[in-house]
Amino acid sequence: MRLILYTGKGGTGKTVTSCATAIRASELGYKTLLLSVDPAHTLSDALEYRVGNELTRIVNNFDVLQIDPVIELSKNYSQLLEYTASIFSSKGLDETLAYEIAMLPGMTQLFALLKVEEIEKESSYDVIILDMMPSGEALRYLYFPKLIGSLSRKLMGLTTLISGVARLFEPIARIPAPSSSVIKLEVQLVERLERLASIFQNGEITSIRLLANPDTFSIENAKRTLMSANLYGINVDLAIINKHIPSSSDEYFTKWSEYQELKYKEAEVNFYPLPIKKIRLFESELKGIDMLRRYALEIFNNEDPTKVFYKGGMFRFEGYDGKLNMMVNVPFTSKDNLEIERIGDQLTITVKSEIGKVVNIIPLPAATIGMKLSKARLENNTLYIMFTK
Ligand SMILES: Nc1ncnc2c1ncn2[C@@H]1O[C@H](COP(=O)(O)OP(=O)(O)OP(=O)(O)O)[C@@H](O)[C@H]1O
Ligand SMILES: [Mg+2]
Repeated sequence: MRLILYTGKGGTGKTVTSCATAIRASELGYKTLLLSVDPAHTLSDALEYRVGNELTRIVNNFDVLQIDPVIELSKNYSQLLEYTASIFSSKGLDETLAYEIAMLPGMTQLFALLKVEEIEKESSYDVIILDMMPSGEALRYLYFPKLIGSLSRKLMGLTTLISGVARLFEPIARIPAPSSSVIKLEVQLVERLERLASIFQNGEITSIRLLANPDTFSIENAKRTLMSANLYGINVDLAIINKHIPSSSDEYFTKWSEYQELKYKEAEVNFYPLPIKKIRLFESELKGIDMLRRYALEIFNNEDPTKVFYKGGMFRFEGYDGKLNMMVNVPFTSKDNLEIERIGDQLTITVKSEIGKVVNIIPLPAATIGMKLSKARLENNTLYIMFTK
């Protein structure tokens, strides 16, 4: 099975690209499922087809499912939510408020992602394409399983222990003890998260694809996603810079076109060695199967859209003894053409190239807060940077 996730800033083209990839994949004979967790029913608009919370067959080999996270949550884990809320209300919080707070931000999205685990288990699809939420933040919940995963074994023992002990102390602590069914649910959830994590971290299965437009904001957003994905070991295999205005005889559009070309060149350096596809802005909005198919052909040509376009990280991090080593692949350059500077939570790498100075700003992981950049060296197109406390 292949799992392909499209992420990027709002409006960059995640939904249409997800639809296009799914259409193309299904035409190549793959049993394809397109999943959306976007509460706005954008899939219906793009496909011009009514898509609901039930599995909908669009054409042969191509199914679509609009996940309603609230339904997912209430179907599977409402008891867990009730228990968490009961802890808060036992502390004197109004019950309605307790529920609101127990429902942590983004939690709905996490439950939507768990749907992937459920579907993968049934193994009835060759390809699952996930149209992600606009916020890059949501991606964090992909990494959440990794954290939970490593803790889960201990946690499982702990919760069983706690429930017994907690019941003893319930009158004193005034915190409701979890019932055995709540604990069972918790253990089950952790196990599902573990499986989900292993799916996401398998580069043969999962690819994140970055969607951006040729503008500063969306490219910066994609770079942050790229950094986090690298940090957590999820493979990013492709970047798509969408909505290029083709050159024109009109002066106004020529200016835009030139500016976008510059942004594209920068992106090439910034995302190196990730493959980038440059896609033009079509004459109109992309709507309906036929148009989406045309869009897919411009992106993938005759290539298989489900292949792994690239494997291997752009950055690597190694932390030990209060030190953090960062390894960055840089395009062919020499030490003399390279400048490195750390500004706040970003690393600025300036490379002199034929198009002038190209600045690559890499967002730094939170671990570098309170550290200083102490050493840097270039070796075989890899930049080694050391941060120390
Ligand atoms: N290459 C393109 N040419 C013309 N129109 C495009 C192109 N790419 C996307 N669009 C249009 O841009 C709009 C936004 O696209 P889309 O909904 O896919 O973005 P999104 O990233 O999913 O947005 P959101 O963050 O809101 O989910 C749509 O109207 C779509 O048809
Ligand atoms: Mg969308």
